[in-house]
Amino acid sequence: MSQRTLVILKPDAVRRGLVGEIIGRIERKAGWSVTAMELRTLDRATLEQHYAEHEGRPFYEPLMEFMASGPSVVMLVEGERVIEGIRALAGPTDPIGAPPGSVRGDFGTIVRENLIHASDSEESAERERKIFFPSFA
Ligand code: TYD
Ligand code: MG
Repeated sequence: MSQRTLVILKPDAVRRGLVGEIIGRIERKAGWSVTAMELRTLDRATLEQHYAEHEGRPFYEPLMEFMASGPSVVMLVEGERVIEGIRALAGPTDPIGAPPGSVRGDFGTIVRENLIHASDSEESAERERKIFFPSFA
């Protein structure tokens, strides 16, 4: 089942020079491909849409500040079961509990600075695709 998902390499990944490493892991998965990609500093309005489900939670404001703190790499990735697949490649939200071999497990320590976002369902993928790449219908 070929799918499309929205991936963000967060400002910490860009600052730390981990973009090539993470994209390399995605590219090496059989049949997956990056079909859109842009280096972009995310503004407040975009981030409010993207993280609407978390508004009001204690981590929301620091998360917004962090996500706007520098450029991110925003991508669409297509391929077989890519939604579940990139969530697995990223690892669980908290990097300390993330297994070695996952991006968060290999490179992260702080929950907020967990390097990568990936859509969590087909519905989220389409919702997020419209926010970041409205012309890629
Ligand atoms: P969430 O959607 O729960 O995680 P995921 O990115 O794995 O889908 O949360 C969104 C982001 O918010 C998460 O990547 C990092 C940040 N966050 C915190 O800073 N503290 C927290 O306690 C949680 C749950 C998330
Ligand atoms: Mg999430």
